[in-house]
Amino acid sequence: MTEVERKRGAAPAPTSWEYAPAPEARDIVTLRERYGHFVGGEWLEPKETYATISPASEEQLAEIGQATPEEVDLAVRAARDAFDNGWAQIPPSERAKYLFRIARILQERSREFAVLESLNGGKPSKESRDVDLPLSAAHFFYYAGWADKLEYAFPNRTPRPVGVAGQIIPWNFPLLMLAWKIAPALACGNTVVLKPAETTPLTALLFCDVVRQAELPPGVVNIVTGDGRTGGALVTHEDVDKIAFTGSTDVGKAIQRELAGTAKKLTLELGGKAANVIFDDAALDQAVEGIVNGIYFNQGHVCCAGSRLLVQESIYEPLISKLKRRLTTLRVGDPLDKNTDIGAINSRQQLDKIEELVQSGRDEGAEIYQPPCRVPEKGYWFAPTVFTNVAQSYRIAQEEIFGPVLSVLTFRTPDEAVEKANNTMYGLSAGVWTEKGSRILWMAERLRAGVVWANTYNRFDPSSPFGGYRESGFGREGGRHGLEPYLEFE
Ligand code: NAI
Ligand code: MG
Repeated sequence: MTEVERKRGAAPAPTSWEYAPAPEARDIVTLRERYGHFVGGEWLEPKETYATISPASEEQLAEIGQATPEEVDLAVRAARDAFDNGWAQIPPSERAKYLFRIARILQERSREFAVLESLNGGKPSKESRDVDLPLSAAHFFYYAGWADKLEYAFPNRTPRPVGVAGQIIPWNFPLLMLAWKIAPALACGNTVVLKPAETTPLTALLFCDVVRQAELPPGVVNIVTGDGRTGGALVTHEDVDKIAFTGSTDVGKAIQRELAGTAKKLTLELGGKAANVIFDDAALDQAVEGIVNGIYFNQGHVCCAGSRLLVQESIYEPLISKLKRRLTTLRVGDPLDKNTDIGAINSRQQLDKIEELVQSGRDEGAEIYQPPCRVPEKGYWFAPTVFTNVAQSYRIAQEEIFGPVLSVLTFRTPDEAVEKANNTMYGLSAGVWTEKGSRILWMAERLRAGVVWANTYNRFDPSSPFGGYRESGFGREGGRHGLEPYLEFE
């Protein structure tokens, strides 16, 4: 009998591990009191402002512009000017040089960006440092490589840029989503107006510094800040040729309705409710790490999070007790502490949503497990949570929670696993854990998801396309596929 099995029924060990605090030095970041919009290479003094805070302390970090339709219009004009007067015409190998330069500057300044990302968004600094920053730089490196090879990517099709791209991004991976949007757009010869999410504008604003440092021609990249109203003004602006949106399914649908019948191109990357499927022949300890990474990475604020765990019945008990035991070792707290595994929930609004859905899980009859953990008094926090006894009809098995909350379901046969995994309105990602290569391929063929990970989870690479089916949206980002939404063909 394994040690874990003997502990079944008792409180999972270990109960406490002492760590000394290991905070990142915050002073690598210099904040301004107030930020405007970055338009035509200059800072535009904003007409209206709001405060951006740190979700870990609720402390105000800076005043941010809330762009009005007139300010959005100025940004679109600057982007149009830059597009018409040079950017689309310069030799593609020159465009590539700017992208390479941006990538290298991001690497050089990665610590500064990582600290700022964690400060403004609440994610653990070890994740900003090891995931967001390296992947953001990699994205620019990757698309820099494509800039002068578009005719080889699309042989006999004469690709040309679309024009001005309006890009709206969410708060879960602020700089990385910026990189996913801006790198392919510029590589293809477009100019952009990007709007970061209202709760996490600071790394996009610091990126304006990088744009200047790289001596990108003015107006090629413009950043306007503000909430959904600013986003709406960008969507409806008549001189924008393409909209790229990542965010909630509801807003994605509203944008699609708004653009129906117009000539604007559109890509939508929306929500998910991914199944992480564990077969009885999987390496259980590795699977537990994959489950933890799948749902607790970035506080579960991940569109492709493995939020539904499908476990084969014969290994249910050992797997769940290993998982619970592992949860007791996760450290929740200060995002700037290098030992933190789970940081702050991004906003009050998101915390309310998580709490509401978790309450619905209790009310509908699921069994909740949360390891004991002490969290700071201020700020927005939620303990890592596992729900067992979950029926497929429960809201926690259907709706995207976007928090550190896992819903566990079971299955007996591979067919049943496929049936349950596909029983969702989404189709963004899935995970499969098994020792058998043939079973991985069999599952991957049947799972209706844009990405299927096998014996791993939440792995990203700029050369691999990412995107969904059904209510997870359409269009692909990353890889050669990610160029297509930013091109027209003769
Ligand atoms: P949201 O979809 O409202 O926000 C995403 C972006 O869209 C932000 O930049 C926001 O300012 C902008 N936006 C909002 N309304 C808009 C409009 N009418 N027109 C144009 N742009 C608009 O997402 P929210 O409210 O922050 O989060 C709600 C839920 O959405 C989350 O709990 C989560 O389930 C899901 N979500 C999914 C994301 C993903 O990566 N797929 C990212 C963020 C949220
Ligand atoms: Mg919203």
